[in-house]
Amino acid sequence: MRVRTYDEIHPDDSFRLSFLAFGEAWDEAKVRRVRSSDRRYLEEFALYAEERGRVLAQVVPLRFRVRLRSGVEEVGGLAGVCSHPAVWGRGYARRLMDAAHDRFRALDLRISTLTTSRNIRGYGVYAKMGYVDLAPFRAAVRRSSRRRAPYGYRLRTATKTDVPRMHDLYRKHTRNMLGWTERPAELLQWVLRENRDYLSKYRVLLRQGKVVGYLRTRPDEGMTMEEVVVPGPRDFRAAVALMESRHRRGMVTVNWITAADDVTRFRSLGYSVDGPIPDATMALSLTKEVRATDLRRLFGGTSGRFVQYPTDDF
Ligand SMILES: CC(C)(COP(=O)(O)OP(=O)(O)OC[C@H]1O[C@@H](n2cnc3c(N)ncnc32)[C@H](O)[C@@H]1OP(=O)(O)O)[C@@H](O)C(=O)NCCC(=O)NCCS
Repeated sequence: MRVRTYDEIHPDDSFRLSFLAFGEAWDEAKVRRVRSSDRRYLEEFALYAEERGRVLAQVVPLRFRVRLRSGVEEVGGLAGVCSHPAVWGRGYARRLMDAAHDRFRALDLRISTLTTSRNIRGYGVYAKMGYVDLAPFRAAVRRSSRRRAPYGYRLRTATKTDVPRMHDLYRKHTRNMLGWTERPAELLQWVLRENRDYLSKYRVLLRQGKVVGYLRTRPDEGMTMEEVVVPGPRDFRAAVALMESRHRRGMVTVNWITAADDVTRFRSLGYSVDGPIPDATMALSLTKEVRATDLRRLFGGTSGRFVQYPTDDF
């Protein structure tokens, strides 16, 4: 098996493999756009396992900063992990991930992370390699209360000009949390460059015309809200009440609640918060300096301080 980079294989082979494994794929033009804007990707963009001229597995290594108990640290992230369904179980994905881990070590990164689902084959593969779950991901539901929209507040779709303010609110909301608190200020701009429609699921909360929070909503997928980033307690209640006021009937849903503070906020509003849901973020130590048994504690998973919102999914 040989390890190749994106530029060393034919882009059509990359597309074919991802399409087979995930049912969707990025074409050359999209890869070019992502590479030129999103600073989280490495120079080689993606690694491939090649055997006798056939491209059989892929990993897309990333690097970004997270906040650990020990301080802010740059870690690796593995996205796009897949192998050709005809060779599952033959170690291509594992050997390619090992190569990505070596690449991370060469960059002096001590930890590799990935997001996955406990529902899929990958979860068992990652666990066997030593990856551990960092914290439970939870979800919440509540029957619509027909709460009245609070006076003086309004929600509207976010625009490009809101992005810097949204980032400030995110920093404020996550200031006592660990894990994915170090989102680059430019992240949404990077994503917007290759996906112009991306902001359509973000709403900003206005109090007397001033932006005091934001959230995401995916009503077509049955998700009322997620990433409710509203630092002020009264403003938080107002944001949730406004979302509920749009749901005159049925169940209101919340996804990806990780931090204990967010659990408390939703419980105090009558939500039943439950989990763990299948979504999971896992980490692996790449060095003897970091004990595998310490990873959960380092990321705040044992103290309820771990946070990761959907914008930080990878
Ligand atoms: C997830 C995926 C990449 C795994 O690929 P794979 O080629 O089967 O992985 P490997 O053969 O390298 O497996 C690595 C090891 O895990 C073992 N393994 C496989 N399935 C396992 C399971 N369910 N539980 C425990 N171990 C498992 C393998 O036997 C192998 O053991 P070895 O290291 O002793 O050889 C592949 O199934 C895939 O492409 N899935 C579709 C895309 C996807 O869901 N990607 C993950 C996104 S997070």
